[in-house]
Amino acid sequence: MAVPARVVANAELTTLVDTSDEWIRSRTGIGQRRLAAPDEYTSVLATAAAQQAIARAGIEPAQIELVILATCTPDRLFPATACTVQANLNLPHAGAFDLVAACSGFVYGLTVGTRMIQSGAHRTVLVIAADLFSHILNWHDRATCVLFGDGAGAVVLQATPEPLGLLSAVLRSAGQHEQHMAIAAGGTRQPLTPELLDAGGHFFTMNGGEVYRHAVRDMTTSSLEAVAAAGLTIDAIDVMIPHQANIRIIDALANRLMVPRERIFVNLERYGNTSAASVPLALCEAAAAGWLNAGSRVLLSAFGGGFTWASAVVRWGIPTTLVP
Ligand code: ACO
Repeated sequence: MAVPARVVANAELTTLVDTSDEWIRSRTGIGQRRLAAPDEYTSVLATAAAQQAIARAGIEPAQIELVILATCTPDRLFPATACTVQANLNLPHAGAFDLVAACSGFVYGLTVGTRMIQSGAHRTVLVIAADLFSHILNWHDRATCVLFGDGAGAVVLQATPEPLGLLSAVLRSAGQHEQHMAIAAGGTRQPLTPELLDAGGHFFTMNGGEVYRHAVRDMTTSSLEAVAAAGLTIDAIDVMIPHQANIRIIDALANRLMVPRERIFVNLERYGNTSAASVPLALCEAAAAGWLNAGSRVLLSAFGGGFTWASAVVRWGIPTTLVP
């Protein structure tokens, strides 16, 4: 994982908007977030996270055959930021593309990367999720600016005959709700004009209440589907890593799924909602804190703009046998 060095506590945001540490903590569970410096853009954090993942996997960069970068805050609209990361890492044999599924992007990317390996097309795939919402937020909109932070996480996937990795995945979307989380201008539907820029059309907007309701419902049902598709029951899940958007969403999910809170890893207090990076940041910290053992069954679940949502069951472990 890679996060910017700059820590911004809730108290600092009270100088920008009419809010309080008490409001932000009680409504969201967030205490601080990391915000990027101007020279820390998406490809920079994505590259840093990928370098760590490659080092920990003990592989040579040249082994990587595909780079999937989940992001909705790319360096530029064109070309794909994944290509910048491929060049930064000097990967001579890798294809590269961006995947846009907002906060669900890591679970989508993990699924696509795994399926590419299972199809026999690739043996080693790098999946990165990086988002820098600080660049698309309106820092005068208290309803959104207090919620997000910047970060990146990455994993290396390799082909193995061992029963490890992704056991099941459920990917869903509901584009009829696109307006509830969006950036109105800057694309082909509404190209940016000086007037739209003045009106803040380039900023992220969100209907928090609608998102909240859908997130709880859809993360619950897709989690149950993913667990069933893995041939398991919810009691067999050792660790749950939900998207870290709001502690109230996580608590509601725990109640509905009847997963004890002590099995749910939460680091939201320190990073806020880092969009696609949120699940891999939590996965990385859960592993470092000793939550994940060889064979642990891990339930991932995320919800984001689109709407998109995704849940997956992963069997944690480092493969000892690789497909030649
Ligand atoms: N500080 C102080 N007051 C605030 C703030 C703030 N930062 N933001 C809003 N308020 C006020 C509102 O103006 C409102 O005041 P009013 O009653 O006088 O009108 C009051 O607080 C309550 O606002 P609500 O929006 O009803 O607050 P709620 O309890 O619903 O919490 C929140 C809002 C935190 C945004 C919640 O709806 C939420 O977490 N939604 C889900 C967001 C999410 O999960 N996003 C994930 C996906 S993100 C992605 O994909 C990129």
